[in-house]
Amino acid sequence: MAIDFSETGFETEEPLVATTLTRDDDNEGSLRPQTLVEYIGQEKAKGNLEVFIQAAKMRAEPLDHVLLHGPPGLGKTTLAGIIANEMGVNIRITSGPAIEKPGDLAALLTNLNENDILFVDEIHRLNRQVEEILYPAMEDYAIDIIIGKGPSANSIRLDLPKFTLIGATTRAGQLSAPLRDRFGVTLRLELYTPEELSRIVSRSAGILEVPIEREGAMEIAKRSRGTPRIANRMLRRVRDFAQVRAGGVITRSVADEALSALEVDHLGLDAVDRRMLTSIIENYRGGPVGLETLAATINEEAVTLEDVYEPYLMQLGFLTRTPRGRCVTARAYDHLGLHFAGMEQMTL
Ligand code: ADE
Repeated sequence: MAIDFSETGFETEEPLVATTLTRDDDNEGSLRPQTLVEYIGQEKAKGNLEVFIQAAKMRAEPLDHVLLHGPPGLGKTTLAGIIANEMGVNIRITSGPAIEKPGDLAALLTNLNENDILFVDEIHRLNRQVEEILYPAMEDYAIDIIIGKGPSANSIRLDLPKFTLIGATTRAGQLSAPLRDRFGVTLRLELYTPEELSRIVSRSAGILEVPIEREGAMEIAKRSRGTPRIANRMLRRVRDFAQVRAGGVITRSVADEALSALEVDHLGLDAVDRRMLTSIIENYRGGPVGLETLAATINEEAVTLEDVYEPYLMQLGFLTRTPRGRCVTARAYDHLGLHFAGMEQMTL
C-alpha cells in the first residue's frame, strides 16, 4: 500500500517517539539492566539472542526483525534496549496506538539511521493501514508514497536505511499472519522463577542502596507473580516500611508486614485474583465458565484477566483452561481455605 501524504499529518507536532528508555511513570528506568550479562533469567531467549547478535555484528548487518511476546512486566522493553546496546545502534521507541496514520510511521522510518532499531510496543494495536506500510519496509527496506492528488497523483518508492524492527506484544495470537511472518526471530518471555526474581530484587536493592537480607529478597520474590516490574515496585514499598519501622534493613518479617498491608497474600495473589477464583467457585461451581462471562461477573476487562491475571494463576496450577471455559483446581480451593467438592466439577 502507498501513503497519500495529502491525507496524513506528516508534519505532526506530537512526539511519537522516544530515544531513551527512562520512563518516569513507573520509575523503572534506573533499575533496567543495560547488557545481556546483567539481565537475569529468560535463559532460552537470552542464549538465542546472543548468537543472533554476534552473527549480525560479524556480518556488519542489522539484526533480523524481532518479535517479543509474553505477559506484561517481564522486560520486553528492557530487552529491546539491551539489544540496541549490544548491537551498538540507536533505538527509537514508540507504540502501536501512538502511530495513528501511515504518515506517522513514514516519518519514523525515514528518520532512522542505518542499522537503527525501531521498537514498537503493543504492536498488535497497529491499525491496518499503518501495518501495510510495514510490510515493504520490513521486507525490502522501502515505502511507497503517493505525491499529489487525483489523476496527477504519482506513486514513488522511497528507500529506507536498513533497520531492525522490534515488536512487543502481550498477545502474539492477535497479530495478523502477514505481520507475524515478517519477523525473523520470535522470542517468548516466560514468567520468572522465585529464585530469579530474588536475584533481580537483590540487584535492584543494591542500585537503590537499600540493605536487604536474602530471606527478605526471597519473600518479595515469592509474592511478585513471576514479574520483575511487580517485584521492583514491591521492593520500593517494602523499603518505605523498612525505613519507617525496621531501621532501614529489608528483612523477611518487614517484607511480610509491608506486603500483607498491601493485601498481597503469601503467593502474591491480590484482590482481583481472589475475586476471580471465588466468583468461579461461588457462581459457577468451580467452572467451566467462559472468559467473557467471568469478566462481566466481576466487572473487569476480559483482556486484563487473560493477559495479566491468568498466566500467573495457571502457573500456580490454580486455574485451567478447557475448551468450555476456565476451571478452578483443588489446589486453589485449598489456598482459599475452601472445600473442594470433587473432580466432576472440572470435567463436566
Ligand atoms: N530488572 C527488570 N528485569 C530484570 C532482569 N530480567 N534482570 C535484571 N534486572 C531486571
